[in-house]
Amino acid sequence: MIPSQKTGLAGIVIRMVRRLAVIAIARGQAMPEQMTAPVGDGFDQNARDAVYRAMFTRRDVRSHFLPTALDDEVLARLLLAAHHAPSVGFMQPWNFIVIRDAGRREKVRDLFLAAREQELPAIEEERRALYRKLKLEGICESALNICITCDRQRSKGSPLGRWHNPEMDLYSTVCAVQNFWLAARAEGVGVGWVSIIEAQALKGLLSIPEHVTPVAYLCVGRVSEFAHKPDLETHGWGRRLPLPELIMSEIFCGQGEVPLKSTVARLNAVDAAPDQRVAPAVPQREPPKEASALSLSSLNFDDASASRASQAGSGTWPSMILK
Ligand SMILES: Cc1cc2nc3c(=O)[nH]c(=O)nc-3n(C[C@H](O)[C@H](O)[C@H](O)COP(=O)(O)O)c2cc1C
Repeated sequence: MIPSQKTGLAGIVIRMVRRLAVIAIARGQAMPEQMTAPVGDGFDQNARDAVYRAMFTRRDVRSHFLPTALDDEVLARLLLAAHHAPSVGFMQPWNFIVIRDAGRREKVRDLFLAAREQELPAIEEERRALYRKLKLEGICESALNICITCDRQRSKGSPLGRWHNPEMDLYSTVCAVQNFWLAARAEGVGVGWVSIIEAQALKGLLSIPEHVTPVAYLCVGRVSEFAHKPDLETHGWGRRLPLPELIMSEIFCGQGEVPLKSTVARLNAVDAAPDQRVAPAVPQREPPKEASALSLSSLNFDDASASRASQAGSGTWPSMILK
């Protein structure tokens, strides 16, 4: 029996709690726990589209940062999203170092420039000129930087899920990074991950203790646009691999799953569409009133017609979400 079918006192209490949560959310007072959908329910179409929309239009942003400050309200929501990531043994091994100081950021940029020179010889010779031209960071232009770290000793003595696989704490931290990144896209905030930095030097610069690993160094800020394609694709560095070729059946390299692969190919038809579209970064419309609680107030609905089209069931998925 789903909660909405419950009768008697329990049903009344559940309905009251839900009603209070909806009122609190509408007033912008909701805690994340109150934003959960009733057990077993999927999101409504608008909310579901918004989730996929964040995933398909998220970009690694290096250019296009605006010289605009990032509101603490917004940053707080992004950090809250990151903090609700899954983690091994509920370890929550992350910390978030917010770096605003221009001088410190210049020093980090120097680390990037040095690391890029060190990486260059490892790049195939014929691609080195292109590598040099690529913009691979926005450390100083973005509103602020965030270093997301993993405290490898946070649950020392209780290695639930990490006894055989100690690296799971690092993977958990990456989940937090992805939550942050997706939430940022929904807020119209650009995020660029800079990994071309020597970790030990970064630790020194940010006073990170030995047992803590810097997992992600992020450039964060308002942007003028989100490119439709990855920068590295635009500049001819790489292309998205065909998903059907990455799906295996039962064992590594196992053949099969033909119907699944053709379904994936059909849904992925958007990649064949003309693809020079650029998503405006500035919110243009309010989300529809009937959208789920999760989409209220914070989502950057930059093309409400897309969700109307998808509601009507027209178009190819995910292009109906993206167009
Ligand atoms: C672990 C990780 C490290 C990355 N490091 C860098 C980096 O140092 N510089 C950069 O410009 N982009 C970096 N990126 C971004 C990727 O280049 C980018 O995700 C990829 O090209 C796909 O583009 P998209 O994120 O816009 O879809 C990194 C991404 C990940 C996940």
